[in-house]
Amino acid sequence: MAARTLLTAGITGVGMSYPDRILTNHDLEKMVETNDQWIVERTGIRERHIAEKGVGASEHGAKAALQALEHAGVRPDQVDQIIVPTVTPDMIFPATACLIQDMIGASNAWGYDLEGACSGFLFALQNARAQIESGAARRVLVVGTEIMSAILNWEDRNTCILFGDGAGAVVVEAIDTERQGIFDSLLHIDGSGAKYLYQPAGGSRIPPSAESVAAKQHYVHQEGREVFKFAVKGMAKVTEEVLERNGLTGKDVKLLVPHQANIRIIEATQRRLNLDDEQVMVTIDRFGNTTAASIPMALRVAIDEGRLQEGDLVALAAFGAGFTWGATLLRWTA
Ligand code: UT7
Repeated sequence: MAARTLLTAGITGVGMSYPDRILTNHDLEKMVETNDQWIVERTGIRERHIAEKGVGASEHGAKAALQALEHAGVRPDQVDQIIVPTVTPDMIFPATACLIQDMIGASNAWGYDLEGACSGFLFALQNARAQIESGAARRVLVVGTEIMSAILNWEDRNTCILFGDGAGAVVVEAIDTERQGIFDSLLHIDGSGAKYLYQPAGGSRIPPSAESVAAKQHYVHQEGREVFKFAVKGMAKVTEEVLERNGLTGKDVKLLVPHQANIRIIEATQRRLNLDDEQVMVTIDRFGNTTAASIPMALRVAIDEGRLQEGDLVALAAFGAGFTWGATLLRWTA
């Protein structure tokens, strides 16, 4: 039997949405014992957007999805699949993908949520790519969306200063093979790191109870220094590896679009690949860490700033809870 020819997958549209309300470092000074200088020097964050109470991840996810579809010139009813990487779904079930499907009128789609924490967007993109390459789907929507403010302990300065809310979405479609599109991805998980960054309660092991709430177990818990050590090495190494196995170096990269957790983690990858500042996308100052939304949001900002042209080599890189980490290479096709 003749081998089936694989199709090529590329990003053809990008969108984002985030709450209007801005919380600055100076605002945080009034809430916990911290200061603007510490936050800027240790993380690179100046401000983040925070949703009003009652706004779920689906709301900004749907808005980002509609912008991405418009950018791609695709109608909602032409979407075959919706994959939603998130750690802050509207509810544990049903999937936020279902809610977004209904909100945008994607009447012919199926889909699911994917939990890969800060690497969730890269994991979802890899699934979208496989669906397109195999011919199982023609158009896949990947929507990273987070309301991190809902799971933060606003009395814990170690964590509450780090995160923000927002959503970023991409449309992945079959493209002409010569345009290359998404061409390699190197992804990892290592659950021995689970204990360093997690939300202890609310799942099956510690269901929500008066006790779990009193013990603040439904919030993000992080041993920042431990996560930092792994992130700084992991993100740089995996990005270098995926470039190397394609015969590429930092010189070939037009834009590195890393997960935005800490400017010092981003700079470690930048140094390892020998990249100039203009080769690195930084949005953490404006948005903080938006977990699974940070990479697609940064892609949208890059487009708005005119930093991406057809054919440019783009490297995406992430590290997050799990641990999860990885890097993806693509030629720009949106
Ligand atoms: O996106 C998912 C993956 N997550 C990450 O990649 C996060 C990785 N970790 C980090 O980015 C960093 O570890 C943090 C930004 C979370 C913390 O930075 P750090 O340089 O590792 O600081 P630290 O935790 O070692 O704390 C240094 C000091 C401590 O005081 P002592 O013990 O030295 O007296 C903290 O209590 O800074 C103190 N501190 C603060 N001071 C002012 C911690 N948080 C704050 C704060 N304001 N908000």
